[in-house]
Amino acid sequence: MAKAAIMARSATAGDGALADAGGPALRDDKDNSSNMNRREARQPRIAIADLAREAEAAQTVGDFTATDPVITVRGCNVWYGETHALRDINLDIGRNEVIALIGPSGCGKSTFIRCLNRMNDTIETARVSGEFRMHGEDIYDRKTDVVLLRARVGMVFQKPNPFPKSIYENVAYGPRLHGLAANRAELDEIVHSSLRRAGLWDEVKDRLEEPGTGLSGGQQQRLCIARTIAVSPEVILMDEPCSALDPIATARIEDLIDELSQNYAIAIVTHSMQQAARVSRRTAYFHLGRLVEVDATDKVFTNPGHKLTEDYVTGRFG
Ligand SMILES: Nc1ncnc2c1ncn2[C@@H]1O[C@H](COP(=O)(O)OP(=O)(O)O)[C@@H](O)[C@H]1O
Ligand SMILES: [Mg+2]
Repeated sequence: MAKAAIMARSATAGDGALADAGGPALRDDKDNSSNMNRREARQPRIAIADLAREAEAAQTVGDFTATDPVITVRGCNVWYGETHALRDINLDIGRNEVIALIGPSGCGKSTFIRCLNRMNDTIETARVSGEFRMHGEDIYDRKTDVVLLRARVGMVFQKPNPFPKSIYENVAYGPRLHGLAANRAELDEIVHSSLRRAGLWDEVKDRLEEPGTGLSGGQQQRLCIARTIAVSPEVILMDEPCSALDPIATARIEDLIDELSQNYAIAIVTHSMQQAARVSRRTAYFHLGRLVEVDATDKVFTNPGHKLTEDYVTGRFG
């Protein structure tokens, strides 16, 4: 509908003198029209074409809603000082779904997921507007407990970042902070089960008191995942969680994502389209701060609805 309207506008812009600026029809025009008229004819053409491009990119192709949403985002805009990093993003994240966020570097993927647990609050120049809800509650409400929010909406970063503490203490930190265990036995239980669910237990069960930083990169990332799930989140945000890992460690994390999706909603930023195709049910394609397309992963990779998406997934740029 909106696309048809845009095309209609482009067609209007395209007829008559606006057809081809600088083309022979304009250059050879020796009739009554003055230079002034020519300039006027040219200016709106450029403006309308730009507007049409803007509007076309602004219209997200596909379905940004989820049937059983945990998080709903409407009209998300983010600025860093003068830089308008995200424009009018609408997107739901559904219960127990894995959604992949893809797109060229700098298109706003990290910025977007940081909005969901208010990590952008920590960036002085960042300004966020729009509506962000978790189960209908306003994430940006003044009364929102941000520490609790970041437990409910956990985050795993590109570079594994274990605390300089023991393996045990890395995982116990959150449950302690949030008072989730009444005694040491309960805390042990949370730590052990989190390490099991993160697929790390067998490798570390005999050295829980050793520093987390002594583990391999892949193990450290699983430790960070254990730390995240130890506080019983509902949503896990992963920002390129495998880009610092070798293929074997990556495969382990991907298996883990698959298992975790039975209990958590996961939004994963990835530069690997193969990874997005392997782990996600839905894929969102960002471009220059816009959400260009979001749909079932199969659809986005095999039959994208937007030219920009197609160019990206076929490797024409990125
Ligand atoms: N802390 C920041 N301060 C200023 N600009 C930032 C900051 N973080 C990101 N940006 C800018 O916002 C845009 C989106 O960046 P980002 O969300 O990191 O993209 P992506 O994760 O897709 O690579 C880029 O233009 C980037 O330079
Ligand atoms: Mg990023």
